[in-house]
Amino acid sequence: MTQKSKKVRKAVLPVAGLGTRFLPATKAIPKEMLTVVDKPLIQYAVEECIASGIEHVIFVTGRRKSAIEDHFDLAPELESFLEERGKTESARTVREIGGDLQFSYTRQSAALGLGHAVLCAAELVGDEPFAVLLGDVIMAGSPAPATRELIEICQATGGGGAIHVERVPHERLQFYGIIDAEPIQAPAGAENFAWSERLLRVNNLVEKPSAEKAPSDLGITGRYVLPPKIFDYLAETKPGTGGEIQLTDGLCRLAGDGELYATVFQGRTHDAGDKLGFLQATVEIGLKDPKLGKPFREYLRSLKLVE
Ligand code: G1P
Repeated sequence: MTQKSKKVRKAVLPVAGLGTRFLPATKAIPKEMLTVVDKPLIQYAVEECIASGIEHVIFVTGRRKSAIEDHFDLAPELESFLEERGKTESARTVREIGGDLQFSYTRQSAALGLGHAVLCAAELVGDEPFAVLLGDVIMAGSPAPATRELIEICQATGGGGAIHVERVPHERLQFYGIIDAEPIQAPAGAENFAWSERLLRVNNLVEKPSAEKAPSDLGITGRYVLPPKIFDYLAETKPGTGGEIQLTDGLCRLAGDGELYATVFQGRTHDAGDKLGFLQATVEIGLKDPKLGKPFREYLRSLKLVE
């Protein structure tokens, strides 16, 4: 393997968006707190952080988002209430929501784009590589947690940036950052990692292209591990697609340095950021739930919708 890079300890979760696609549900409740089966959407990303060895989660938040802070804070009154009534399991569930993670919060004062949201976390991240997880995307069902896989790539490449991509149908290319990439051989010493056979070097990226202008059908899923120099690039990035400062445009600079890698995610990506994706995530995750899965499947069968 090439030179060792610093450990990836921190993850940035941008959660300042207004959730307008879910109105009226999100009038008073953050989109990230909408429930998929039995957990708020954002908890899936936080659990992925824990499973990936992240130690410190930085939320880039905004007005009317305090429910997220409360959810990951301790709740001593609720815990003792449950303990006193013998509801030990529920008390444990409440206590363990955030694992051993440290949480920090910083605010994005205006909706200036994903690149700007990530830039808001620059001081809290400091001079070390970090992960970014888009909380409305649930990445499930791969052998390794998505973020952990990207951390492995970052370390094996001596600190290069890494992103997950997936094949996107023609009519949906306009909703994703699309990459132009080529397969490369994994660095020596990385042969045993699951991604080593499917490592790509990214040459360029285009945010939300028309189908005609898309350089491939590989779209960014919403998981990134990035070197700290991305902050310098984002600070210089001018508003792009949609008049926003795009993370994808900062990534173009990294790709230009030959320091951005991608791999096709092997699990299932649920984009719960719109209503249909949210319903699909609810059904698929509900079907896999250890307790609810069986009765839920029977219910769906009774509707004659699934085998
Ligand atoms: C963002 C990114 C885009 C990425 C997508 C994944 O777009 O800008 O590159 O493909 O997330 O969900 P958004 O969905 O926030 O508009």
